[in-house]
Amino acid sequence: MVFKRLVNAALRPLRKATVDPFARLKLEKLKLIDFACTELGVKSFADLGGVWNVDGGYTFYALDKHMIDRAFLVDTDFNEAVSQRRMQYPQLQIIQGNFGDERVAQQIGHVGAVFFFDTLLHQVKPDWDNVLEMYALRADCFIIYNQQFVNAVHTVRLLDLGEAEYFKNVPHRPSEEPYVALFQKLDEINPQHQRPWRDVHNIWQWGIVDADLERKMRQLGFAQRYYKNCGRFGNLPNFEDHAFIFQRTEQHS
Ligand SMILES: C[S@@+](CC[C@H](N)C(=O)[O-])C[C@H]1O[C@@H](n2cnc3c(N)ncnc32)[C@H](O)[C@@H]1O
Repeated sequence: MVFKRLVNAALRPLRKATVDPFARLKLEKLKLIDFACTELGVKSFADLGGVWNVDGGYTFYALDKHMIDRAFLVDTDFNEAVSQRRMQYPQLQIIQGNFGDERVAQQIGHVGAVFFFDTLLHQVKPDWDNVLEMYALRADCFIIYNQQFVNAVHTVRLLDLGEAEYFKNVPHRPSEEPYVALFQKLDEINPQHQRPWRDVHNIWQWGIVDADLERKMRQLGFAQRYYKNCGRFGNLPNFEDHAFIFQRTEQHS
């Protein structure tokens, strides 16, 4: 018993050192980053909404694996893990705020790529397509991994489906925060974001169809360089994970 404890204590630092810091990240998202940096020459980026559940993991992956001279990690919510790790990366700037806010976009300025990983479907006021417009003048590539709405022709605002259909189409139960009594509090002000609950990014907002996203990016002057259907999202019949990279074809003025 004592021997076992001593062996465990001796091995602990070794185990810690061999834990893969990227283990929680999705391989398909890492492939998107690799493709953009190696094939499209991306050297700067803004990871928009990169904290929840991954602690900036995609930002740190890109910084560790590729030659990046400027990076931004933007989120409304940060944590200690990110605050600690960011110190190793002088080229990284943290912005706490809503990336749909024009002032945040201005702080970022121009970058080689913007990452939207599991974030586009959450964007309201500005809506997902307006957020793309905001960043179209500021980024040469859009790297998007999103839960896309399938089995539908048009994009839908999920709340418009009504409560029963809404909960059939999101990966959360009505008993889970922040979804508790959601349909009763839609017009109440959310204290953190100072906007009605119906417009906060913490809940599922949109079912975006590929055709609408691709049309929007074409209109904005971007060509599709990468696409992959990464399969059904959880057990939701109407959502699949799709990966995209769009690159600017028209000169940035
Ligand atoms: C579903 S998590 C995705 C986290 C990570 N990008 C990933 O792929 O696993 C969404 C994250 O984006 C943030 N977020 C969503 N919309 C945002 C907005 N408009 N401004 C700032 N942060 C936002 C949330 O706070 C959360 O950290």
